[in-house]
Amino acid sequence: MRTMTVLSVVGTRPNFMKTAPVIAELQRRSGRFRSLLVHTGQHYDAAMSTIFFEELGVGEPDHMLGVGSGSHAAQTARVMERLEPVLLEEKPDVVLVPGDVNSTLAAALTASKLRIPIGHIEAGLRSFDRSMPEETNRILTDQMSDLLFIHSPEAEENLLRENVPAHAVHFVGNTMIDSLLAIWDRLDAGAVSERHGTAPGEFLLVTLHRPALVDGPLLTVAIGELEAVGAEVPVIFPAHPRTQARMRDLGIHPETNRNGLRVTDPLGYLEFMSLVAGAAGVLTDSGGIQEETTVLGVPCFTLRDNTERPVTVAEGTNTLLGLDPARIGEIPVLLEQNAHGRDKGVPRGWDGKASERLVDVLEQKLNADEEIKWA
Ligand code: UD1
Repeated sequence: MRTMTVLSVVGTRPNFMKTAPVIAELQRRSGRFRSLLVHTGQHYDAAMSTIFFEELGVGEPDHMLGVGSGSHAAQTARVMERLEPVLLEEKPDVVLVPGDVNSTLAAALTASKLRIPIGHIEAGLRSFDRSMPEETNRILTDQMSDLLFIHSPEAEENLLRENVPAHAVHFVGNTMIDSLLAIWDRLDAGAVSERHGTAPGEFLLVTLHRPALVDGPLLTVAIGELEAVGAEVPVIFPAHPRTQARMRDLGIHPETNRNGLRVTDPLGYLEFMSLVAGAAGVLTDSGGIQEETTVLGVPCFTLRDNTERPVTVAEGTNTLLGLDPARIGEIPVLLEQNAHGRDKGVPRGWDGKASERLVDVLEQKLNADEEIKWA
């Protein structure tokens, strides 16, 4: 029987959770699939990378490209240069890329030029905001992809509007939520909240890392507001390395306790998701956390003008505050008002079976001996 070689490319923290359950499913069907994993090394700190491989049980990547940090052009170019020989050597039948980071675009571009079919996990999301590098990465990756795996209804509309043929679009659901549901029983909001000096339901959890917010003067406003909120309710802020660097520029050192604002290093997946589960609310500018809070039923306040994940507002617990840190002070009141749809349920296909459905699509192609490339 013919087998299919599927080569997945990951690079940054959120990529790992989106891809790990797909790899697990490919490994479960090892009679039909050969699964290979490439880590570009866009994220490389233990707290941003290694810990996730350990916790998600993915095993060591088959290839480490070690590209590290750099400008957008340098990082993208380095992934392309280092991935090309790997693809030529491994000759995959399909390359899987998740999300919208520079590694995603670079891997898709490399595969596309070699005429290797591409599957995009989390296709079709649009913020309609070209000032975000992720929007460019999404649009271009989708244009090069042959299998577009989507997890929300608006993704299909977005793709059809951009002339992607309907037969290339597959609604499989949310693979990142597969990862969350897989660790569900191991989440321990009580113990982890206690370790952070607080208790479930009694603290605000914060993550901020987007350049639009942390690379300019808005970060100072945000820190001031968080300190003010911290005087009322404890605030736990695991800070991304980019954010920590900008904080240091402002004279704020991580691991300090400033008036109830506790800044910590980035946390592992289990510890962080346990904190989300225990939080009274979460303030973020992350994409994935808007989805995870929706599934956990925890109020989420997004400090951005837009979201590429409107389903988390319509059907979940997400509230868009705008790119306006002055509004952080309103969060305790908004939480009091309880107006965040905690009981709305979860969007369709966010059920722990998305990876199964995604691999079903690949297996159907394999069984039918069908060409994956559509363009
Ligand atoms: C990247 C993604 C962003 C995603 C985020 C998730 C792009 C354009 N951006 O942003 O969409 O939401 O990952 O975390 O791809 N750094 C370290 N250690 C690391 C990684 C980064 O210290 O392990 C520092 C470096 O100073 C680096 C900076 O963080 O210059 C930014 O890293 P980079 O990967 O370029 O972008 P992120 O801000 O992490």
